[in-house]
Amino acid sequence: MIGNWSIHGHAIVSADDRIAGPDGLTPESLRNDADWARFQAALDEAAVTVLGRLGHEANPNLKRRNRLVLSSSARGIERRADAWWWNPADALLDEALARAAPAGGVAAVPGGRQVFDMFLEIGFDAFHLVRARDVRIADGVPVFSAVTAGESAEHTLAAHGLVPGPTEELDPAAGVLLTVWRPPLA
Ligand SMILES: NC(=O)c1ccc[n+]([C@@H]2O[C@H](COP(=O)([O-])OP(=O)(O)OC[C@H]3O[C@@H](n4cnc5c(N)ncnc54)[C@H](OP(=O)(O)O)[C@@H]3O)[C@@H](O)[C@H]2O)c1
Repeated sequence: MIGNWSIHGHAIVSADDRIAGPDGLTPESLRNDADWARFQAALDEAAVTVLGRLGHEANPNLKRRNRLVLSSSARGIERRADAWWWNPADALLDEALARAAPAGGVAAVPGGRQVFDMFLEIGFDAFHLVRARDVRIADGVPVFSAVTAGESAEHTLAAHGLVPGPTEELDPAAGVLLTVWRPPLA
């Protein structure tokens, strides 16, 4: 927990731990209806969605959810027409969350890579790792930077102190599996 906020990561990754193609866009092969429905329900319940600028621009905020967008272009924490904007070099996470979601609650974090890297160090209260086990994306964007050095997503999550719950088949025919990783119970 960061103050009154619980940090929940969400990613759908290929068999080779990629969240997007070499062009930086999410390929159709990584889109799955069962995962999308689960992910959208999680965002609906969250107090705020925290994401990188590229993901914000690639995924228009059709539901007008409360977003906090990371960008080096922001001066501290700014309210813009489309979202809260935050530059982590200028302001702390709890300051940004206090502005964007003052009542606390779940901060859903759908990435991308730099954002996941940052929250790995801060600490996730849950990381929802969905794997499309039959999809490979050569030279795609890795879910964590450590993947580039040959670490799997699972190894990276474990190395940051998280442990996996049971794996659920979200879409058996498509080979799409969900595992939620959390800190060990005290
Ligand atoms: N499969 C999945 O689950 C999944 C998850 C996430 C994203 N995606 C997809 O992946 C693509 C983009 O992902 P991405 O990883 O390339 O980019 P991204 O994280 O969406 O955006 C990167 C940008 O966010 C800003 N940013 C991130 N961390 C920052 C920090 N600590 N300080 C300041 N600014 C920071 C920077 O913006 P500035 O350049 O403005 O400084 C950076 O260029 C999109 O197509 C998205 O839809 C897929």
